[in-house]
Amino acid sequence: MQTTLHQRRQKLAEIIDFPTVLWSGNSSPRNFPANTFPHRANSHFLYFAGIPLENAAIRLESGKLQLFIDDPHPSSALWHGETPTREEIAAKIGADEAKTMAELGNYLENAATVPVQDAATWTQQTQLLNRPVFPKNPRSGIDLELAKAIVSLRLTHDAAALVELRKAANVSVTAHKAGMAATSSAKLEAEVRAAMEAVIMGQNMTTAYTSIVTVHGEVLHNNHYYHSLQPGDLLLADVGAETQTGWAADITRTWPVSGKFSSTQRDIYDIVLAAHDACIQNIAPGVEYADIHLLAATTIAEGLVDLGILQGKPEDLVKMDLHALFFPHGIGHLLGLDVHDMEDLGDIAGYDQGRSRSSRFGLSYLRLNRPLRAGMLVTIEPGFYQVPAILNNPKTRDQYQYLVNWERLAQFADVRGIRIEDDVLVTELGSEVLTAALPNQASAVEDLVGC
Ligand code: GLY
Repeated sequence: MQTTLHQRRQKLAEIIDFPTVLWSGNSSPRNFPANTFPHRANSHFLYFAGIPLENAAIRLESGKLQLFIDDPHPSSALWHGETPTREEIAAKIGADEAKTMAELGNYLENAATVPVQDAATWTQQTQLLNRPVFPKNPRSGIDLELAKAIVSLRLTHDAAALVELRKAANVSVTAHKAGMAATSSAKLEAEVRAAMEAVIMGQNMTTAYTSIVTVHGEVLHNNHYYHSLQPGDLLLADVGAETQTGWAADITRTWPVSGKFSSTQRDIYDIVLAAHDACIQNIAPGVEYADIHLLAATTIAEGLVDLGILQGKPEDLVKMDLHALFFPHGIGHLLGLDVHDMEDLGDIAGYDQGRSRSSRFGLSYLRLNRPLRAGMLVTIEPGFYQVPAILNNPKTRDQYQYLVNWERLAQFADVRGIRIEDDVLVTELGSEVLTAALPNQASAVEDLVGC
């Protein structure tokens, strides 16, 4: 690990010539100070420090690392057991020097940083640096230069990162199989979620984001688990593991609660799968990710025309954003230390220099708009959703009255939401699906659900 960390720091030093200070962040109290939400160290800190420390900072300059962390308080052993000393941690991460947090203020001259998520640490950053540290969007100066430098390193993954990303992917695959197997005996969404997260926790990992396990897949970030499972329902599960050093996976599968898709569910499932497969077949270095998104949109539009739900030429329908009535989000995002990797920096990672978000409904949620490069890990996650807020909007109905066959659409009422999502590594020759061990063909999914 030390060699990789050293290489990452050296590479940063080759891009910027000013010091960098990265804070790990603090845990936030739920009520009294010692009862905290689980701590998740800041990802930029993790990238260069390698271990999830709390209330620590690192200063990087010319490839050298200074660690700032306090030794555990004498009373800590009573509640937390013996924890490593500053010197032990410094040795573990290959620090050149180790100091207390109180000393950090003496080393901040001309230092750049990126903002940490928790408010207490962000306030500390702002106070110690004595200047604004803009959350989400470093606008200018050395913080912006640092953000761009970090993005240039983290956009593609080194061998050590890929070892962790494969671990996260494999555990997530097992979790999804457990969820499918648990469905026939489950009464509530919550039971399926529990079966999936048990696999992840059993590997001493956490979830990389709040799991979505729902029969209401049309609510894109549905974080409730109280619905009962009915035989005609589709269950959409978007669940991914995070390794102990913070690397993420992100998988979605949609399966029939009964173990058998209805014919209408199967028709739509196969359209989403066709879009998924077409996108993955086309992933290669140099390909524009926005074109992959448009390929998904066109494949979905074609399928819906074939089913008689949309009327017109698929390419024309996509130009008019008709696909977005049913596929309103982007085809995916970067994946790494975060599930939407580096989105804490706004669109600096997702959008190539000089590009910005489109205002078009069918493109505005596209999170990644860059040419692909070998070593990038992206998700491919087409979907079909019947979102009442979109489809029942009188303006939408009016605008698209001759392009959507609303009576035909009504025959697909048992399809509320379908998404199929895999994690795809761009390779020199094309791509490798890290989550390929989890079947996505409709019949194979039915077999895994059993019943
Ligand atoms: N899988 C969760 C998300 O992409 O937001």
